Amino acid sequence: MSPHKSLLIDGIGELFSADDDGTIYYDAAIVVEDGKIAWVGHRLNRPAADEYLDLDNCAVIPGFVDSHAHLVFAGDRSGEFDARMNGEPYDGGGIRTTVTATRLAKDDRLRENCARLSAEMLRQGTTTVEIKSGYGLSVEDELRSLRIAGEFTDETTFLGAHTVPAGADADEYTALVTGPMLDACAPHAKWIDVFCERGAFDGDQARAVLTAGAAAGLGTRIHANQLTEGPGVRLAVELGAASADHCTHLSDADVDALANSDTVATLLPGAEFSTRSPYPDARRLLDAGARVALATDCNPGSSYTSSMAFCIALAVREMRMSPAEALDAATSGGADALRRTDIGRIVPGARADLVVLDAPSYVHLAYRPGTPLVHAVYRGGRAVN
Ligand code: NIG
Ligand code: FE
Repeated sequence: MSPHKSLLIDGIGELFSADDDGTIYYDAAIVVEDGKIAWVGHRLNRPAADEYLDLDNCAVIPGFVDSHAHLVFAGDRSGEFDARMNGEPYDGGGIRTTVTATRLAKDDRLRENCARLSAEMLRQGTTTVEIKSGYGLSVEDELRSLRIAGEFTDETTFLGAHTVPAGADADEYTALVTGPMLDACAPHAKWIDVFCERGAFDGDQARAVLTAGAAAGLGTRIHANQLTEGPGVRLAVELGAASADHCTHLSDADVDALANSDTVATLLPGAEFSTRSPYPDARRLLDAGARVALATDCNPGSSYTSSMAFCIALAVREMRMSPAEALDAATSGGADALRRTDIGRIVPGARADLVVLDAPSYVHLAYRPGTPLVHAVYRGGRAVN
């Protein structure tokens, strides 16, 4: 569509707005102007516009917001996946395999891989993605990872505290992350993250990382309670983190803490799928009143999927979420996890990030798992495929 002209998208059979009331419109229309939603409602009330598009009763949903992804890496770990499917457990130790491959890779190799995965996501309807560093683990390699991530998204996350590099002492490495590495990386990151887990960073180290990041002006998020129950979720709530991610092993106190906070519980079912682990209990979180998001965790070790639709299908089948809850979590939930109100919902004023489905209803995302259902994607009002 031409800039500054308004576009009327008409003939929407079903429109999942992901607004605060969970409004679903039938026989709807949308007006897009200057890259934003100018109007949404029943087509009988539609205003006039400069240009016109008829969707012939397709369903329309907001662009997916994938609020957790690790796209700057090199190398392949399909052998590790194969070993797991033959009975080996996952303990996060494979992160170091990717660190070795990433450090050896030239910038262009990392850039091409990140471009390939970002494009794969966009084609599948993801119009916003958060991208973490975390496979460099040196000042120089974390900095270049963030520079490359920043070529693809504004939602960049410094994850120097992904794991302790081979041969390093955890406290000494934490001092590097919270000192010189943070100084170098903070100008290139919006967020800071830490893997709080047995074998990675303990509660004190995770607290040091997040408080140093916050003091440097970064928003906070955390990999918490993925493999074991631990202090991560309560630390996130105490520090007012935007998101606690994984939330697979939660005590009642963790669930209460999340329910009484603004910290989003971001669930990453691709990781449980790919590590053959029990899924997080989304129902328990939702029933307690916690805000839930869904994201891919796309990374070469624990969850090598770029598909938000796949995560929705897993959440519905395995985590007792309804299709509407899962889609809300994959759109406005992800936006909340990034503290964004301008994306993830189809409401006036929001960025016109839209996915047109080759289906009469959003329910098909879970009902027809593994089927490519994306007919068209709009980001900021522009058709991107
Ligand atoms: O979110 N848990 C820590 N980090 C990633 C896994 C990274 C890897 O195995 O390479 C995750 O699952
Ligand atoms: Fe992750």
